[in-house]
Amino acid sequence: MPNERTVQKLALQGGMKAVTKIEGKGQPKIGREEFMAVAARFGLPQETLDRINSVIRDEDFGAGPFMANYYSGLKETANDAFAKVGRKIFGVKYALPISSGTAALHAAFVAAGVGPGKEVICSAIGFYATAAAVVMAKGIPVFCDVDESLHMDPTKIEALINKRTVCICPTHVMGSVAKMDAIMKVARKHKLTVVEDCAQSCGGKVKGKYVGTWGDLGIFSISAYKIVGGGEGGMVVTNDQRMYEAAINLAEGGGLWRPSRFAEERYPGELFVGTNYRMSELEAAMDAVQLKKMPALVKRFHNVKMRILKQLKTYREIRPQTLNDPDGEIGYTLRFFPESFELGEKIVAALNAEGVGCGMRGPKAPPDWHIYHDMFPLVLRQGGPLDDCPFGCPRYLKAGGKVEYKRGQCPVADDLFDRNISVGLNQWFNAADCKHVAQAITKVLDAYCTPDPKGKPWL
Ligand SMILES: Cc1ncc(COP(=O)(O)O)c(C=O)c1O
Repeated sequence: MPNERTVQKLALQGGMKAVTKIEGKGQPKIGREEFMAVAARFGLPQETLDRINSVIRDEDFGAGPFMANYYSGLKETANDAFAKVGRKIFGVKYALPISSGTAALHAAFVAAGVGPGKEVICSAIGFYATAAAVVMAKGIPVFCDVDESLHMDPTKIEALINKRTVCICPTHVMGSVAKMDAIMKVARKHKLTVVEDCAQSCGGKVKGKYVGTWGDLGIFSISAYKIVGGGEGGMVVTNDQRMYEAAINLAEGGGLWRPSRFAEERYPGELFVGTNYRMSELEAAMDAVQLKKMPALVKRFHNVKMRILKQLKTYREIRPQTLNDPDGEIGYTLRFFPESFELGEKIVAALNAEGVGCGMRGPKAPPDWHIYHDMFPLVLRQGGPLDDCPFGCPRYLKAGGKVEYKRGQCPVADDLFDRNISVGLNQWFNAADCKHVAQAITKVLDAYCTPDPKGKPWL
């Protein structure tokens, strides 16, 4: 019959399979070229790159793991390994690798119960990201003045506490540490959570205990610009399971981390919308190695600073930065306060001429994100584009909230931030280098100041 069609038996019915094999050979998603691009990024000499290339030229990487933690199919991802190092070093139950210190702060504030109508007490000297993350969590930052340690002054916290306050966030500044024992006392008395911002002092300790483990949550920036880290990364640490789960819920899309993504809430507040702050596997692999190196690196910095401080004399016109815990000091900068800007300018010029790199902001410095009154655009009280939330939020206004950010609110910070001389130290200084730096400081201070054996000691 002319119109008869031949219908083949379906594979379902026991017929021949139409596709028995795919012949086109695929390439791995992450292959040799990508591997070489990473090696080249780290500035390896061409000769080394050629050698690596010749070794791996014919290798088939297979489908290989992606550079992502999510659904990697691996038993232990680089993120798992990084978290393990974090838990071990800091002696905490939970460590969450995350894409940056800012992301870590956002997750930590959400976990700490920051939200509309709530206030967080932050350090007047620190970094913009801390206060910005409070706003991202829909809370309001309020700044606490510092003392001569350049850290949050524990005696000034209580005056800032009101019914809207939920959290205190001390920042450990530039390799030094805040007075955590005193801060915790105030926080516990008023039942406030504590988030420690350790971005600038990863590895610092107070009374032998790592900063980041005193508070309810600790955050770290593990980035190229900090003493530990190679690219952009961060970590949140805590011993509290619920807080950990809230932090990971924010960081992992709101539920991806749970055994069953679409299961019912297992407890009130478990689920809420989240974002993607996951750390890339490449970064995690590098940061796990970096973090392991941290204790040795901190010890080298610490020894350099102590060696230099021990050789310095005291002077009437100079007040050294107070070290809240000299034993827990990392020490990548050495700071002191000259009695006037004029004296400071002379000292800075003379020290630089002696070969000791240092600086002082002085009275006419441009704005700086590390002091509260310059934290632009926070000071505009702008939560989003054309959006005055959380500053104009009815929940905040109804609770009597009103905040402004202006120079003059934290007078000690205003003064000391501009008037401190900062000498950069290097972990690789040997004993002779330390001696020469100490001699240079003494030479310059002898020339411009009055020795005073009863002056404020350096240590
Ligand atoms: C005190 C402080 N907190 C948070 C951050 C933010 O970290 P990241 O740059 O990793 O987002 C920084 C970065 O400089 C910082 O100094």
